[in-house]
Amino acid sequence: MKSATTSRGGSRISDLPIALDSSIRNQSARVHAALRSAIVEGRLQAGLQLPSSRSLAEQLGVRRNAIVAAYEHLASDGLLDARHGAGTYVAKDLPMPVGEASPVELSFAPPRRRAFALGHTFVEDDILRRLGGYLRHHVLTAGAEEIGYGDPRGSARLRAEIAQHLAVHRGVRCDPECIMIVSGTQHALRLCVEALLARGDAIWMENPGYYATQATLRTAGLKLVPVAVDDEGIDVAAGLCMKVKARAAYVTPSHQFPTGVTMSMRRRIALIDWARANESWIIEDDYDSEYRFAGPPLTALAGIGGERVIYVGTFTKILFAGLRLAYMVLPPEIAARVIAIRATLDRFPPRFMQDAVADLLADGSLARHTRRMRGRYREARDAVVATLREAAGDALQLYGPVQGLHLVASLPGGLSRDDAVRIRASANVDAKLLSETRLTAAGPEGFILGYSGHPLGELREAARRLGQAAREAVGKQPRPRPRPKR
Ligand SMILES: Cc1ncc(COP(=O)(O)O)c(C=O)c1O
Repeated sequence: MKSATTSRGGSRISDLPIALDSSIRNQSARVHAALRSAIVEGRLQAGLQLPSSRSLAEQLGVRRNAIVAAYEHLASDGLLDARHGAGTYVAKDLPMPVGEASPVELSFAPPRRRAFALGHTFVEDDILRRLGGYLRHHVLTAGAEEIGYGDPRGSARLRAEIAQHLAVHRGVRCDPECIMIVSGTQHALRLCVEALLARGDAIWMENPGYYATQATLRTAGLKLVPVAVDDEGIDVAAGLCMKVKARAAYVTPSHQFPTGVTMSMRRRIALIDWARANESWIIEDDYDSEYRFAGPPLTALAGIGGERVIYVGTFTKILFAGLRLAYMVLPPEIAARVIAIRATLDRFPPRFMQDAVADLLADGSLARHTRRMRGRYREARDAVVATLREAAGDALQLYGPVQGLHLVASLPGGLSRDDAVRIRASANVDAKLLSETRLTAAGPEGFILGYSGHPLGELREAARRLGQAAREAVGKQPRPRPRPKR
């Protein structure tokens, strides 16, 4: 590559470090593409003077007109600065970053897979075969309506099935017109924020609470107000004491994440009264009510205080996370607003999978699958509880839930987050820590143990390792000194 100094003080290259892509048929497009990548990748630096069109045409063996056209195109892209009579330069203020491509830093952590990782489910071949069969059928028989743009709320058939399911199992009576299919709980939350809240608005959050929701709402610019959870669920009185005007509250009343507490009726009524008095919204995340191991299913909050409650349900637990199908039930007053927002984001959800899931609901196979899984998860819960009790003794206090797919094992006071991290590492498990779900520093430490989607033998082994590691850590604790006798 030959270079020289130009009258503008920059350098000039007579032989450009570019190669033409022969698969591009048009000569000027070929030159444009080669120069464009050389500039964007930083091989041609800002301010550098390019050769004349005649000289570059000779170097590259193309028509001069092709160089002139490519230079003009690059100037209109903002990548070249061509001044009549003064030569052609790589633009000083390039509109896009140039230089060495640096590795992209992703904040995304790969999903955890070892024993106790949350978010896994068992999916039997039979249900997958059925789902695949229905999906194939819908794709192969798709008409103009299925192939074109669709309703922002999603498939009418799936919405009708969900409405029926909610009426029978969750005590929620709703019009399918007010149901919207979304691609997961976080998607539902973002839609609520877009339609109903503004950046900087305060929202009550259960503390401890669902870490993914915390991240979603924080990213959406909301101010998270930690409200304590006790054995009746979110403490509404404590929330009122915070003296922050919250525009919404996010709650998991049927099975508080992570503590497993079911919100008492007293608290439900207090929360609904608060929402009505303050014209605030309650976002009810009802994520695992299909897996209740004892007693009748509880009526969802939306079945009691409907007009202030946005109900969010998901297929992640009854089927699997990769499905990316969830739904929200919108109070009629806000339905049009949320629908309009959704139409401006991803327009509407993918059609075929929704119809296939509607078929699984309609033919009863999803209900049968859920029943079988309920038995399997109950067995997993019991195995983990029994093994941990035996291995940990008093070193872990267990809260065996009557619902859901995880349990909490807390450490005695005096053990720190660092101790918990060490115990987790020594047990070689993917348990989440209680402190990882808290918005405030103080509070008990312990483990959140997902028992769904992991083989029973692995769970037993992992529970044994975790119990022993906890017992050893507690054994190393200095004993409290006896009080001196007076
Ligand atoms: C509290 C809570 N809400 C919702 C979900 C489901 O989220 P999604 O529908 O985005 O898969 C989970 C999944 O683990 C959860 O723990």
